[in-house]
Amino acid sequence: MGKIILKGLEETEEFGEKLGSLLKPGDIVSLIGDLGAGKTTLTKSIGKGLGIEDYITSPTFTLVNEYKGKYWVYHFDVYRLDNIEELDDLGFDEYFYSNGVSIIEWGDRIEKFLPKEKINIQIEKGKELDDRIVTIFGEGNRLEELVKELNIN
Ligand SMILES: Nc1ncnc2c1ncn2[C@@H]1O[C@H](COP(=O)(O)OP(=O)(O)OP(=O)(O)O)[C@@H](O)[C@H]1O
Ligand SMILES: [Mg+2]
Repeated sequence: MGKIILKGLEETEEFGEKLGSLLKPGDIVSLIGDLGAGKTTLTKSIGKGLGIEDYITSPTFTLVNEYKGKYWVYHFDVYRLDNIEELDDLGFDEYFYSNGVSIIEWGDRIEKFLPKEKINIQIEKGKELDDRIVTIFGEGNRLEELVKELNIN
């Protein structure tokens, strides 16, 4: 587990980009945080680090947007998911167990449908308006590896 305080939007963007550059095929990033905490903002930076040139927007009418950067990147937002069957219809397992990178806003809402080994990222507001506190936690080697590579503890 690791925790980092990001002072302002720029630091958050740098962090996201660094994280994105470290992600590998099959990684699953579950983003946890209140409305407006910065999940989409962070996703945009992660996407940049993954070499995505398209403008990333949160999927609203669909559950998932697909992008191609260094790898395929699947950006989910399950905030409006009111029926787990919607996920089934999507064939979500094929995304989560693919060679792409999955990023899931509100991942905690579908926690039990996500693989155990994943990278949970909690983002919360900090002291100053634009500060964010990011906590990374989860199970598996990839998490440990990333925490080391990101140099946070
Ligand atoms: N350090 C920061 N990190 C992230 N966002 C920040 C930061 N500082 C300010 N912001 C602003 O906070 C807002 C975060 O909105 P964003 O849509 O990313 O949140 P969200 O968690 O995805 O919300 P939602 O739950 O509605 O999807 C943006 O307007 C962004 O510019
Ligand atoms: Mg969002």
